Amino acid sequence: MNKIMLIAFTVGSSLCAGAADSGVANTPPMGWNSWNHFACKVTADDVRASADAIASNGMKDAGYVYVNIDDCWEGSRDEQGRIQPNQKFDDMKALVDYVHSKGLKIGIYSSPGPKTCAKYEGSYGHEEQDAQQYAEWGFDYLKYDWCSADKVYQQSQMPEVYKKMHDALARTGRPIVFSLCQYGYDRVWRWGASVGGNLWRTTEDISDHYDRMSVIGFDQDGLESFAAPGHWNDPDMLEVGNGGMNHDEYITHMSLWSLLAAPLLAGNDLSKMMPETLSILTNKEVIAIDQDTKGIQGRRIAREGPLEVWAKPLADGGVAVGLFNRGESTNPVTVNFKDLGVHGSAKLRDLWKHKELGSFKDSYTEEVPRHGAVLIKIQ
Ligand code: GLA
Repeated sequence: MNKIMLIAFTVGSSLCAGAADSGVANTPPMGWNSWNHFACKVTADDVRASADAIASNGMKDAGYVYVNIDDCWEGSRDEQGRIQPNQKFDDMKALVDYVHSKGLKIGIYSSPGPKTCAKYEGSYGHEEQDAQQYAEWGFDYLKYDWCSADKVYQQSQMPEVYKKMHDALARTGRPIVFSLCQYGYDRVWRWGASVGGNLWRTTEDISDHYDRMSVIGFDQDGLESFAAPGHWNDPDMLEVGNGGMNHDEYITHMSLWSLLAAPLLAGNDLSKMMPETLSILTNKEVIAIDQDTKGIQGRRIAREGPLEVWAKPLADGGVAVGLFNRGESTNPVTVNFKDLGVHGSAKLRDLWKHKELGSFKDSYTEEVPRHGAVLIKIQ
């Protein structure tokens, strides 16, 4: 096992030194977010139903914790400038308490600009007050989305603008995961951790289509040195179960996000989920790759046209390997052990099939369906 050494992986980044360590997000955050399915229609009842589902369908047991409200909860400000929820979220404290009562945590959303992306009230000029309000309500996570901030700030001010909210959150004394969302502008991975970000979006929005998901996911190669425990690259939330991709494409989505040590925020309607979706979202062997305590983001180690091999070194000395087929027909995909620093034989396990594959020498080849993936662990 100790012969497995994946060379050229750099762990963490010296640029991140000095990032505020709030003790959260030691592994990539897992949970659910309202946006990909409900978008602006989300209500407090939808959030309660998601918490109910996570607490009872095996997701909580698999590691899903955060129940995150995205945009469209905001109402207006009162005479003291305090942000109020809109009529769909009349009693925020009661909602927070409900989610906490299920043993889960809860997240909220805002923008540093005057308006959010959906044109609701943003935090501009009210950063301190909003941070205090989120903490008073009991929130555990904030997604802070650039949106209309372009109207009041230069792009070069992004780091100070994000740090301002981070510092305001820190002053509340409540551990709150800080999620930066500015679509990867200005190489955020180089400075996101230094302004207190626990995760930062590296791209514009995902959608429930193989072409969009795969471009985002496979384009993460090269960002691996910027991720480490406490601060992660975020290629956006999951679309698994939203209906726009087939089974093999969702297997690719979940396998790739796990190899990338990406946050796993389910984005479907958890109250009406097909068993197939639940089984993709709760495969514990796959989730263990994402949540591995070493916190190394995987990278591409080989490519032959549309066929790709990705690898992620693990804390126990093993390596997770993804065989991907981005092509239009079934194709054999090969991992050469020498690309992993393995000389001779190694034992392989299929993490989707929960099956030992046996011992192989020098390489392993498997047929991978169109747009599909095989995820194996090499020990
Ligand atoms: C932006 C973000 C999305 C979502 C919407 C909400 O587009 O990138 O993830 O939060 O705003 O309006």
